[in-house]
Amino acid sequence: MSDRPKVAVIVGSLRRQSVNRRLAEAIAMVAAPKLDLKIVEYDEVPLYNQDHEADLPAAVIAFKAAIKSADAVLIVTPEYNRSMPGVLKNAIDWASRPPGQGVWSGKPAAIAGSSPGALGTGAAQVDLRNVLTAINVAVMGAPQIYFVHREENFTEDGSFSDPKFIAFIEGWADKFAAWIAKVGS
Ligand SMILES: Cc1cc2nc3c(=O)[nH]c(=O)nc-3n(C[C@H](O)[C@H](O)[C@H](O)COP(=O)(O)O)c2cc1C
Repeated sequence: MSDRPKVAVIVGSLRRQSVNRRLAEAIAMVAAPKLDLKIVEYDEVPLYNQDHEADLPAAVIAFKAAIKSADAVLIVTPEYNRSMPGVLKNAIDWASRPPGQGVWSGKPAAIAGSSPGALGTGAAQVDLRNVLTAINVAVMGAPQIYFVHREENFTEDGSFSDPKFIAFIEGWADKFAAWIAKVGS
Protein backbone atom coordinates (compact mmCIF):
# COMPACT_ATOMS: atom_id res chain seq x y z
CA MET A 1 0.00 0.00 0.00
CA SER A 2 3.09 2.25 -0.19
CA ASP A 3 1.88 3.99 -3.35
CA ARG A 4 -1.29 5.25 -1.66
CA PRO A 5 -1.62 9.05 -1.84
CA LYS A 6 -0.69 10.76 1.45
CA VAL A 7 -3.60 12.84 2.69
CA ALA A 8 -3.20 15.44 5.46
CA VAL A 9 -6.42 15.46 7.49
CA ILE A 10 -7.35 18.73 9.19
CA VAL A 11 -10.10 18.47 11.81
CA GLY A 12 -11.91 21.77 12.37
CA SER A 13 -12.38 21.07 16.09
CA LEU A 14 -9.59 20.95 18.68
CA ARG A 15 -11.54 19.28 21.48
CA ARG A 16 -10.56 15.78 22.59
CA GLN A 17 -14.02 14.24 22.21
CA SER A 18 -14.73 15.90 18.85
CA VAL A 19 -17.28 14.02 16.77
CA ASN A 20 -15.51 15.34 13.69
CA ARG A 21 -12.26 13.78 14.86
CA ARG A 22 -14.13 10.49 15.27
CA LEU A 23 -15.56 10.88 11.76
CA ALA A 24 -12.04 11.59 10.43
CA GLU A 25 -10.64 8.51 12.18
CA ALA A 26 -13.44 6.28 10.86
CA ILE A 27 -12.97 7.60 7.30
CA ALA A 28 -9.20 6.94 7.65
CA MET A 29 -9.93 3.36 8.73
CA VAL A 30 -12.38 2.57 5.93
CA ALA A 31 -10.38 4.39 3.22
CA ALA A 32 -7.02 2.85 4.26
CA PRO A 33 -6.72 0.47 1.27
CA LYS A 34 -6.80 3.48 -1.08
CA LEU A 35 -5.59 6.50 0.91
CA ASP A 36 -2.97 7.10 3.61
CA LEU A 37 -4.89 9.57 5.82
CA LYS A 38 -3.13 11.18 8.80
CA ILE A 39 -4.54 13.82 11.13
CA VAL A 40 -2.42 16.98 11.34
CA GLU A 41 -2.36 18.48 14.86
CA TYR A 42 -2.44 22.28 14.94
CA ASP A 43 -3.49 23.20 18.51
CA GLU A 44 -0.38 25.34 18.95
CA VAL A 45 -0.96 27.52 15.88
CA PRO A 46 -1.44 31.06 17.29
CA LEU A 47 -3.96 33.64 16.18
CA TYR A 48 -2.92 35.09 12.86
CA ASN A 49 -0.86 38.26 13.15
CA GLN A 50 0.88 39.76 10.15
CA ASP A 51 3.61 41.11 12.46
CA HIS A 52 4.88 37.52 12.81
CA GLU A 53 5.03 36.68 9.13
CA ALA A 54 8.71 37.58 8.82
CA ASP A 55 9.59 35.16 11.62
CA LEU A 56 6.93 32.46 11.47
CA PRO A 57 5.98 30.71 14.73
CA ALA A 58 7.29 27.12 14.90
CA ALA A 59 3.75 25.69 14.99
CA VAL A 60 2.90 27.51 11.76
CA ILE A 61 6.07 26.22 10.07
CA ALA A 62 5.15 22.66 11.12
CA PHE A 63 1.54 23.03 9.95
CA LYS A 64 2.61 24.41 6.58
CA ALA A 65 5.17 21.61 6.15
CA ALA A 66 2.52 18.97 6.84
CA ILE A 67 0.25 20.42 4.14
CA LYS A 68 3.07 20.94 1.67
CA SER A 69 4.42 17.39 1.95
CA ALA A 70 0.98 15.76 1.55
CA ASP A 71 -0.41 14.75 -1.84
CA ALA A 72 -3.84 16.02 -0.81
CA VAL A 73 -5.88 17.42 2.06
CA LEU A 74 -9.12 16.29 3.70
CA ILE A 75 -10.85 18.83 5.94
CA VAL A 76 -13.37 17.37 8.40
CA THR A 77 -15.18 20.19 10.13
CA PRO A 78 -18.01 21.08 12.47
CA GLU A 79 -20.34 23.95 11.74
CA TYR A 80 -20.28 26.94 14.09
CA ASN A 81 -23.09 29.45 13.68
CA ARG A 82 -23.65 28.36 10.08
CA SER A 83 -20.00 28.64 9.06
CA MET A 84 -16.61 27.07 9.72
CA PRO A 85 -14.92 27.35 13.16
CA GLY A 86 -12.49 30.22 13.64
CA VAL A 87 -9.61 27.85 14.51
CA LEU A 88 -9.90 26.25 11.09
CA LYS A 89 -10.09 29.53 9.17
CA ASN A 90 -7.13 30.81 11.22
CA ALA A 91 -5.00 27.79 10.28
CA ILE A 92 -6.01 28.07 6.61
CA ASP A 93 -5.07 31.77 6.62
CA TRP A 94 -1.63 31.14 8.16
CA ALA A 95 -0.84 28.45 5.57
CA SER A 96 -1.71 30.88 2.77
CA ARG A 97 1.01 33.31 3.87
CA PRO A 98 3.42 35.09 3.37
CA PRO A 99 2.59 36.07 -0.22
CA GLY A 100 4.14 33.61 -2.65
CA GLN A 101 4.92 31.14 0.12
CA GLY A 102 1.49 29.66 0.73
CA VAL A 103 1.13 25.90 0.52
CA TRP A 104 -2.41 25.58 -0.82
CA SER A 105 -2.30 26.38 -4.52
CA GLY A 106 -3.11 23.37 -6.70
CA LYS A 107 -3.54 21.00 -3.73
CA PRO A 108 -6.29 18.41 -4.30
CA ALA A 109 -8.79 18.41 -1.41
CA ALA A 110 -12.06 17.04 -0.12
CA ILE A 111 -14.41 18.22 2.61
CA ALA A 112 -16.47 16.32 5.20
CA GLY A 113 -18.34 17.28 8.33
CA SER A 114 -20.36 15.97 11.24
CA SER A 115 -22.97 17.57 13.46
CA PRO A 116 -25.53 16.28 15.92
CA GLY A 117 -27.96 18.64 14.18
CA ALA A 118 -30.13 17.58 11.25
CA LEU A 119 -28.59 20.07 8.80
CA GLY A 120 -25.21 18.36 9.18
CA THR A 121 -22.60 21.07 8.40
CA GLY A 122 -23.99 22.00 4.98
CA ALA A 123 -23.61 25.76 5.49
CA ALA A 124 -20.06 25.39 6.88
CA GLN A 125 -19.03 23.25 3.93
CA VAL A 126 -20.33 25.82 1.42
CA ASP A 127 -18.34 28.59 3.15
CA LEU A 128 -15.23 26.41 3.38
CA ARG A 129 -15.45 25.49 -0.32
CA ASN A 130 -15.62 29.18 -1.15
CA VAL A 131 -12.51 29.98 0.92
CA LEU A 132 -10.55 27.07 -0.56
CA THR A 133 -11.45 28.13 -4.09
CA ALA A 134 -10.04 31.60 -3.37
CA ILE A 135 -6.63 30.08 -2.54
CA ASN A 136 -6.71 27.78 -5.58
CA VAL A 137 -7.29 24.51 -3.73
CA ALA A 138 -8.75 21.90 -6.09
CA VAL A 139 -11.75 20.76 -4.05
CA MET A 140 -13.52 17.61 -5.25
CA GLY A 141 -17.13 18.51 -6.07
CA ALA A 142 -18.76 15.16 -5.27
CA PRO A 143 -19.43 12.89 -3.53
CA GLN A 144 -19.86 15.08 -0.46
CA ILE A 145 -19.84 13.73 3.13
CA TYR A 146 -22.45 14.98 5.62
CA PHE A 147 -22.59 12.86 8.76
CA VAL A 148 -25.31 13.35 11.38
CA HIS A 149 -23.63 12.31 14.61
CA ARG A 150 -25.25 9.57 16.70
CA GLU A 151 -23.31 7.30 19.07
CA GLU A 152 -24.90 4.24 17.48
CA ASN A 153 -23.45 5.20 14.09
CA PHE A 154 -20.01 4.04 15.29
CA THR A 155 -18.75 0.57 16.27
CA GLU A 156 -16.60 -0.04 19.35
CA ASP A 157 -13.43 -0.13 17.23
CA GLY A 158 -14.24 3.29 15.78
CA SER A 159 -15.57 2.31 12.37
CA PHE A 160 -19.06 2.99 11.02
CA SER A 161 -21.88 0.68 12.10
CA ASP A 162 -23.93 1.01 8.89
CA PRO A 163 -22.61 -1.24 6.07
CA LYS A 164 -24.23 1.09 3.53
CA PHE A 165 -22.24 4.04 4.87
CA ILE A 166 -19.04 1.97 4.80
CA ALA A 167 -19.75 1.18 1.12
CA PHE A 168 -20.37 4.89 0.52
CA ILE A 169 -17.01 5.84 2.08
CA GLU A 170 -15.24 3.09 0.10
CA GLY A 171 -16.69 4.59 -3.08
CA TRP A 172 -15.76 8.09 -1.90
CA ALA A 173 -12.15 6.89 -1.33
CA ASP A 174 -11.96 5.50 -4.88
CA LYS A 175 -13.20 8.78 -6.30
CA PHE A 176 -10.92 10.92 -4.12
CA ALA A 177 -7.90 8.79 -5.13
CA ALA A 178 -8.88 9.30 -8.80
CA TRP A 179 -9.31 13.05 -8.19
CA ILE A 180 -5.84 13.26 -6.60
CA ALA A 181 -4.31 11.39 -9.57
CA LYS A 182 -6.10 13.69 -11.99
CA VAL A 183 -5.41 17.14 -10.49
CA GLY A 184 -2.35 16.57 -8.28
CA SER A 185 1.04 17.65 -9.59
C1 LIG B 1 -19.94 28.06 18.87
C2 LIG B 1 -20.78 26.91 18.36
C3 LIG B 1 -21.67 27.11 17.32
C4 LIG B 1 -22.40 26.04 16.79
N1 LIG B 1 -23.20 26.24 15.69
C5 LIG B 1 -23.73 25.15 15.05
C6 LIG B 1 -24.34 25.29 13.76
O1 LIG B 1 -24.45 26.39 13.20
N2 LIG B 1 -24.82 24.17 13.15
C7 LIG B 1 -24.71 22.92 13.73
O2 LIG B 1 -25.13 21.92 13.11
N3 LIG B 1 -24.14 22.75 14.96
C8 LIG B 1 -23.64 23.84 15.61
N4 LIG B 1 -22.99 23.68 16.83
C9 LIG B 1 -23.01 22.38 17.47
C10 LIG B 1 -21.87 21.52 16.94
O3 LIG B 1 -22.30 20.86 15.76
C11 LIG B 1 -21.51 20.47 18.01
O4 LIG B 1 -21.07 21.13 19.18
C12 LIG B 1 -20.44 19.54 17.50
O5 LIG B 1 -20.29 18.47 18.41
C13 LIG B 1 -19.11 20.27 17.32
O6 LIG B 1 -18.20 19.43 16.65
P1 LIG B 1 -17.05 18.63 17.42
O7 LIG B 1 -17.76 17.56 18.27
O8 LIG B 1 -16.28 18.00 16.32
O9 LIG B 1 -16.29 19.57 18.27
C14 LIG B 1 -22.28 24.75 17.37
C15 LIG B 1 -21.39 24.57 18.44
C16 LIG B 1 -20.64 25.62 18.93
C17 LIG B 1 -19.65 25.37 20.05
